[in-house]
Amino acid sequence: MKVAVLKGGRSLERGVSLRSAARVEDALERLGHKVVPIDVGSDLVKRLRAEEPEVAFVAMHGVGGEDGTAQELLEILGIPFTGPDAAACARCIDKVMAKAAMRGAGIPTPDSFAFTQTAFRELGAADALADLEGTLGFPLVVKPSRGGSSLGIKFAGAPTEVPGALIAAFSYDDRVILERFVAGRELAVSVLGTEPLPIVEAIPDGGDRYDFEARYEIGRTRFVCPADLSPTERAAVTDAALATCRALGCEGFARVDLILAADGPWVLEANAIPGLTDTSLLPQAAEAAGMSFEELVTRILDMALAPSAA
Ligand SMILES: Nc1ncnc2c1ncn2[C@@H]1O[C@H](COP(=O)(O)OP(=O)(O)O)[C@@H](O)[C@H]1O
Ligand SMILES: [Mg+2]
Repeated sequence: MKVAVLKGGRSLERGVSLRSAARVEDALERLGHKVVPIDVGSDLVKRLRAEEPEVAFVAMHGVGGEDGTAQELLEILGIPFTGPDAAACARCIDKVMAKAAMRGAGIPTPDSFAFTQTAFRELGAADALADLEGTLGFPLVVKPSRGGSSLGIKFAGAPTEVPGALIAAFSYDDRVILERFVAGRELAVSVLGTEPLPIVEAIPDGGDRYDFEARYEIGRTRFVCPADLSPTERAAVTDAALATCRALGCEGFARVDLILAADGPWVLEANAIPGLTDTSLLPQAAEAAGMSFEELVTRILDMALAPSAA
C-alpha cells in the first residue's frame, strides 16, 4: 500500500515528530508498504495530490500537526488518515477546551483558570492573581494551553514565582492555564481501538522533580509498564481515561496523562497523536501487551482504513 508519512512541520515538537516518523517509516517498509515521507510545509496539498497515497500516517506532534490543521486538509482531499479526526485533534490540543469538555462529562481534572495575554495587557488580569492563587494554593502549575512535551510548564512554589512562570508559558501560547498541583503517581493510559493498553507509570529518579529538562534526560525518569496498581486503582484510572477519550472524541487512538492521587485519578490531558519514538510511552505499552511495533503500526493503519473496525 502507498502510505504518506506526514512529519516535521514547524511545531516546537518537530524533533520528536521526526523521530516518531523515522521509526514508523522503517516499520512500514519492513511491512512491505511503499512509503512517501512528507516533511509538512507549504507544498503539502500539492504533494498529496501528486502522490495520491492510499492512506496518510500522521506522525506529527504539537501545533500544526496534532491540532487538526493537517487533518482538516486530509479530510478535504478525501485521504484516509491515522489518528483522531480534525475536530477531536482541535479539542485535545487545547487544554482549556479539553478540560472544559472533561468537566462537562464529570471527569475529574484539576481546578484551573485560563488567561490570555490580552487579559493581562488590556484587562488588568494581574490584579486577579492573588484571588486565584488563594483558590488553587501553592505550588501551582503554569502551562501553555496548547503545547506538549512539557514545554513551557513551570511549577510556582510562591506568589513571587508566578509572573516568571506566566512569561515562560506565554512564550509558547497566547493562552495559559494556572492549575492546581496534584501530588500523586504519574500515569499514562494509551488507547488503541476500544482497548486500553497496559498503564505506564513515570517515576522521576531523584533530582529536581520540577526540572523537566533534567527529568526527560535519559535515565532521570524511569518508566514502569504495566504500572503496579491494585485492581480498583487500575479500573478507576482506565475508566477515567476511556471517559476522557469519549468526551474529546479521540476514541481509537490517544494517550491520556493522569495523576493518581490519594483521592483517585485526575486527568491532565489527552494526546491525540502520542509519540511513537523508541522511548515513547504508547509503543512501550503496546510492547507490554505483547504487540510488536510493526503490529502496532498495522493496527493504527487498519483503523484509518476502516474506522468502524476500531
Ligand atoms: N496539575 C498538575 N499537578 C502535578 N503535576 C502536573 C500538573 N500538570 C502537569 N504536571 C506535570 O507536567 C507534566 C506535563 O503536563 P501535561 O499537562 O501532560 O502537559 P504536556 O502537554 O506538556 O504533556 C505532567 O506529566 C506532570 O508531570
Ligand atoms: Mg502530557
